[in-house]
Amino acid sequence: MSEESAPVPVAGVAMTAIGVAFVRARETERADRLYSDPLAQLFVDAAKPSFGERWDELSPLLDMFYEARTVAVRLVDDRVEAAVREGIRQIVILGAGLDTRAFRMDLPADTRFFELDLPETFAFKEPVLARGDATPRYERQVLPVDLRGGWAEALLLQGFRADEPTLWVDEGVLGYLLRPDAQQVVATLTELSAPRSRFDIGSFAVDPNSGPYLALRRLVSGADEAPGEAAGLGPYIEKWLHEHGWDTTFQTWAEQAASIGRPDTNGGPETGNMAAVRR
Ligand SMILES: C[S@@+](CC[C@H](N)C(=O)[O-])C[C@H]1O[C@@H](n2cnc3c(N)ncnc32)[C@H](O)[C@@H]1O
Repeated sequence: MSEESAPVPVAGVAMTAIGVAFVRARETERADRLYSDPLAQLFVDAAKPSFGERWDELSPLLDMFYEARTVAVRLVDDRVEAAVREGIRQIVILGAGLDTRAFRMDLPADTRFFELDLPETFAFKEPVLARGDATPRYERQVLPVDLRGGWAEALLLQGFRADEPTLWVDEGVLGYLLRPDAQQVVATLTELSAPRSRFDIGSFAVDPNSGPYLALRRLVSGADEAPGEAAGLGPYIEKWLHEHGWDTTFQTWAEQAASIGRPDTNGGPETGNMAAVRR
């Protein structure tokens, strides 16, 4: 298969997925790795030639985000394992990017993955996986959709069962959506969530004008200015979830990361994870 069959998203939000693959590839090389994702290096190798000199801008960014991001990957792995221990077999990954959990995790054989992301992400991802002869270990459905539009019907058409509990994974997509769009995603997934479904919301103290975020914005969109409109779910999401049938518990980032033995780079008592379970 030629390089043309894997068009690389070198700009726009889809390219952020390459940054996270870069993080997972780096983690996989470590002797004390928190997880192993051998396919991540395939994505990095396939993407690199198309970036040209801009690749050199990615490397310092990786250094800035690596510690926090790699611990976050492991925490999501832990949540996937906890969910299957609770009997959940349906996992929907929102903004899946170059996620390879359906290929790399050790889970019950009847686990089913649904990966949702923009068409340009899968136009790159699927040919790279095919070229690497990667075979998913579980049923895996790929949905090229824009989360800002309707996506519930596509999910149902692919075999999603709204009467079964689901683990919904947001690992860095809702923060990119404008607030009404992010909130609509949660309203939609709430309608699709049977009792015992789970959904986790990260809260981070992000200064959009700090060095790392400025550098990321420049690389992704060429813009210096932070967007004027609010993005992500906002401060009232906890109240909304309670009113719409979810129980929530909060754990600080430091509490979650304590057992992992890596530096706590995310800090702050307001920084952590809100775990929601559908009543
Ligand atoms: C920071 S990356 C995270 C990818 C993946 N969850 C991971 O951790 O590796 C954000 C992802 O959100 C996707 N994304 C952004 N806006 C989206 C939208 N409107 N609809 C679907 N996916 C979107 C991007 O294409 C990208 O893959």
